[in-house]
Amino acid sequence: MNDSLRRYAEALESADAQGLLRRLPHPAEDGVLDFSANDYLGLARRPELVEAAAEAGRRYGAGATGSRLLSGNTPLHEVFEARIAADKGSEAALVFATGYQANAAAIAALLDRSVLGAEPLVFSDRLNHASMHLGCTLAGAKQLRYRHLDLVHLQALLEKHSSEARPRIILSESVFGMDGDLADVAALQELALRHDALLYLDEAHATGVFGPRGYGLSEALDLAPSTIVMGTMSKGLGVSGGYVACSRLVRDYLVNRAGGFIFSTAPSPLVVGAALCAWELVPTLGPERAALLARAERLRQDLRGLGLDTGASRTQIAPVILGTPERTLAARDALETNGIRVSAVRPPTVPQGTSRLRLGLSAAHTDADMARLLDGLRRACGGL
Ligand SMILES: Cc1ncc(COP(=O)(O)O)c(C=O)c1O
Repeated sequence: MNDSLRRYAEALESADAQGLLRRLPHPAEDGVLDFSANDYLGLARRPELVEAAAEAGRRYGAGATGSRLLSGNTPLHEVFEARIAADKGSEAALVFATGYQANAAAIAALLDRSVLGAEPLVFSDRLNHASMHLGCTLAGAKQLRYRHLDLVHLQALLEKHSSEARPRIILSESVFGMDGDLADVAALQELALRHDALLYLDEAHATGVFGPRGYGLSEALDLAPSTIVMGTMSKGLGVSGGYVACSRLVRDYLVNRAGGFIFSTAPSPLVVGAALCAWELVPTLGPERAALLARAERLRQDLRGLGLDTGASRTQIAPVILGTPERTLAARDALETNGIRVSAVRPPTVPQGTSRLRLGLSAAHTDADMARLLDGLRRACGGL
């Protein structure tokens, strides 16, 4: 066998032996009760979104036909960006084909030392998403990782490096995707301003669910020009894609320097049409948001009642931390046998010893669905 191929096979065997092999789940069938999705508002199948996609396709085509800088810039992309900026309270916004691409491309561009004149100091929450790490790696930037959500530790690191004449940036999610806990975004912005650092906030899991009108935790902030907010259309909005809400200067800079924007076909009009429709629905969904978060709180209480560890979750994402990959896979499989789908999240996605079931709640779940989930969890985790 070719040596590289042999090594790939060995890597897979080794992952399997540790319970860490990733396999695609069977395509979900009708009747499966799904708690593995990020469709927090139940928008993915709303007829309005499907119709908006079709209408955008009829008007602008199924594909964007090129990068935004070439043939792909439709009026729809610009209308959507203006709408995002207005609702996020930023001067401007820029959309990307995926959230992963937005983070990788925007962070890599923001950390470009050939532009900054020195290697930046990057202060990262230890549990930030892989796409944020990729942005740092692409820029060749070392990260100073602070303990998860620990702003005292962040402040200590900022102070330790305060005499260095280097640009600074703080990277954090606002709602953490695997833990469902919340960053104090006002305190982060305050710290960033005090230390003359940029703040880059990832609102992937907050968009649609948190904020006065549902546009994310940063919606309640008076955004500083040095605060850059990223979010996705792939989770609470039920579609796909990513956005960056920022100053006009930063948008112009990303248009010129973000490789994942420049060298990639613009998001399809189908996607932008549906995402714009979802974005416009978000402020009307206050009651759904409140019911979703109340249901999540009840679920956490019930899980604690079963003696299960839900970490510091305060959102629509509830982990059930079981520790080992083996226990997590056994519980996931037992639930699947009962027609309930949840995600089994293991290292390296989460730290060693914290393998977990990840429950993503949706406004479309009913009380009966929640009762079925709880009963399934009682059986699946009871004997472990
Ligand atoms: C915090 C966070 N940022 C970014 C992304 C990437 O977003 P997308 O799925 O739209 O590529 C994810 C996806 O899981 C995420 O959890």
